[in-house]
Amino acid sequence: MRFTRRAAVAAVGIAALLTAGACGSGDEGGDGSGSTKVEVFTWWADGGEKAGLDGLVSAFGTACAGQTFENGAVAGGAGANAKSVLASRLQQNDPPDTFQAHAGAELLDYIDAGQVEDISADYDSWGLKQAFPQGLIDNLTVDGKIYSVPANIHRANVVWSNKKVTAAAGITTDPKDLTEFFAALDKLKTKGVTPLAIGKDWTQLMLFESVLITDLGPEKFTGLWNGTTPWTDPGVAKGIADFKRLLTYTNKDRDALDWTDAEKLVMDGKAGYQLMGDWEAADLDAKGFKDYGFFTFPGNGTTFQWLADSFVLPKGAKNAEGTKCWLKTVGSAEGQKAFNTKKGSIPARTDAAPADYPKYQQAAMADWKSAKQVPSCAHGAGCSQGWQGAANSALGAYSTKQDDAALTKALVAAAEQFGKKK
Ligand code: GAL
Repeated sequence: MRFTRRAAVAAVGIAALLTAGACGSGDEGGDGSGSTKVEVFTWWADGGEKAGLDGLVSAFGTACAGQTFENGAVAGGAGANAKSVLASRLQQNDPPDTFQAHAGAELLDYIDAGQVEDISADYDSWGLKQAFPQGLIDNLTVDGKIYSVPANIHRANVVWSNKKVTAAAGITTDPKDLTEFFAALDKLKTKGVTPLAIGKDWTQLMLFESVLITDLGPEKFTGLWNGTTPWTDPGVAKGIADFKRLLTYTNKDRDALDWTDAEKLVMDGKAGYQLMGDWEAADLDAKGFKDYGFFTFPGNGTTFQWLADSFVLPKGAKNAEGTKCWLKTVGSAEGQKAFNTKKGSIPARTDAAPADYPKYQQAAMADWKSAKQVPSCAHGAGCSQGWQGAANSALGAYSTKQDDAALTKALVAAAEQFGKKK
């Protein structure tokens, strides 16, 4: 059962899951303490992430009079610090009123552990089943129940550039495949800048995943997470070889940097490119940096590697009523606009007007409709937290030792441990 559900989530893009009917128990969290504070736990503490959260908070203030937002953010990209703080709070039965969880396999971890409430009945009363695309509803539905409200859709497989730096290196077009990318990286190297800025483990996993999409193609890439593509596939070996070559163009201090530190290298003109999710668009905007370009990772074609932030009602939340108002706001047209126009992501709702959004999101909204969708493991859509942790450690070790056999072995072992029924 566990494998079947995980496989279903990882196997498909949001557009194409099997339909499961939703019904709800309306089980309430809360201890009747009468609190009017809603502690919202995220890792959005700065830049474009904080700007997105602020937008949501302001929509919450308008829609939920009498309730007060309390910021429970723990800084650190991709929840590197937040997730362990959250895990220990959940274990000690001290949940925040709501927390950020990625739609897909990561959310299943919380559902399987019985840590989040079924909110299917609220979906009905808030009209969310009509607001979100059916594929997303299907993706969120587990055994007929829905446990979270998605705030957005992010794209992971995007390369960001400093246009002045690339132009000075004589790069006139965006590279479309790895051959062109390596040629561009060589030009940047000649100029004495870091060709490709990167940070620690999870950012390396993102780059590796992008390379795997190129070397395996979208279907076989998705198969890595649902068990239909073995990690011993020759495309993975090619991916490791290409990834190893890409690492030679990156900053040596990578293992000590968060994504924003790598982004700063690009902004400061010290690096040409960075592979990062499209929260980078919002962050560059929030920091006033205008000379940036963006393109899909070379060789990914029209593939859109997706992830979605969603919010839950934890079991035992002190203020279930206030949390429900937060969740309703997250799913509302106003909430999604206030959040996504500042966060770099696109709204999960289908009724948004592209003209309300910055240029990057307009392009992403168009791509989302037509592109082939594959899930992100680094951001919990395609793999569980245990699998993600194992992949991050494997990449972290690879960064130091560059041992291809050890990386393959670790990835095979992770798929065996976390990809199948225990
Ligand atoms: C992701 C999250 C994004 C963004 C990013 C960088 O996991 O889904 O919303 O915050 O981490 O921190």
